[in-house]
Amino acid sequence: TFAPRVFSGIQPSGGLTLGNYLGAIKRFVAMQDDFPCVYCMVDLHAITVWQDPKDLAHNTRELAAGFIASGISPEKSILINQSQVPEHAQLGWVFNCVARMGWMQRMTQFKDKAGKNAQNASLGLFGYPALMAADILIYHATHVPVGEDQKQHLELTRDIAAKFNHDYGVDFFPLTEPVIEGAATRVMSLRDGSKKMSKSDPSDASRINMTDDADAIARKIRKAKTDPDALPSEIDGLKDRPEARNLVNIYAALNDQTVEDVLADVGGQQFGTFKPQLAELAVSKLSPVSREMARLMDDPAEIDRILAKGAAQAREITAPILHKTYEVMGM
Ligand code: ADP
Ligand code: NA
Repeated sequence: TFAPRVFSGIQPSGGLTLGNYLGAIKRFVAMQDDFPCVYCMVDLHAITVWQDPKDLAHNTRELAAGFIASGISPEKSILINQSQVPEHAQLGWVFNCVARMGWMQRMTQFKDKAGKNAQNASLGLFGYPALMAADILIYHATHVPVGEDQKQHLELTRDIAAKFNHDYGVDFFPLTEPVIEGAATRVMSLRDGSKKMSKSDPSDASRINMTDDADAIARKIRKAKTDPDALPSEIDGLKDRPEARNLVNIYAALNDQTVEDVLADVGGQQFGTFKPQLAELAVSKLSPVSREMARLMDDPAEIDRILAKGAAQAREITAPILHKTYEVMGM
């Protein structure tokens, strides 16, 4: 048995969205008091697609600021940038040799991200889930809070751990559990209820960015796609209404309520009434975070110090686990 430990990461590949905040960061914050946690900016994942060097450096610091401003405490949790802890990439290579081509070819995120021109995708984009398994298992992490979109990658992580353990006759890597919970495990685009909200969506109106000001948040919510019906008072009434369901989910997650409780309050309302309330709630929850992010970004050297300290703490865990992995393998 393995002592409980939480690991999760976010790519510094552009601004943080409300999807990242509700589906990931807000839940990372909630786990800090109950578990030892490692939270990671995964820059080695970001470079699987082209990143302008100046943007990557800026986005990494901004993401660190977003983590801290949202309530990740560098005193309670280890906060790191992936490339500063080399054991991630080293174990990633080992897992490239454990994972099978056929497993990787089934990954739907690769198909989505590579698009029609998969021959021109980077080899790193194809191998991404093996590195993600290494990010998790280099800490022997037992729990990984993620959004719904990462479920398949977590299954692959377990497959890699199980194959390693089996092939070498050891019980060395834990079979990590995904933690996919709450109302916001899949926040959808505000323009298209069939697509997830993403920082890589070309339409800025499709997402709320953590750095959006109050006017932008209110405008995007006002213009969010909906249907002409009133809100139902029961959850069944949201069936086949993905846009309505999404706005209610966002409300519930922002306000730490269940969807049932929200509907008990707002059932019967038209969107013309509900949307301004949602906008007000979103602004009241997100503005303090974005103000604090801006304040932290005024002192990038302090952010760099926090990440350097995190990397040193992380390596106390990762170096012995890599050493032992190599030993098991005869290296
Ligand atoms: P993105 O998908 O925006 O590029 P990442 O791949 O870095 O972001 O994902 C970071 C975390 O945020 C993951 O746990 C992912 O599941 C979560 N996440 C991303 N988008 C959403 C969303 N729309 N709803 C819920 N969680 C999300
Ligand atoms: Na993602």
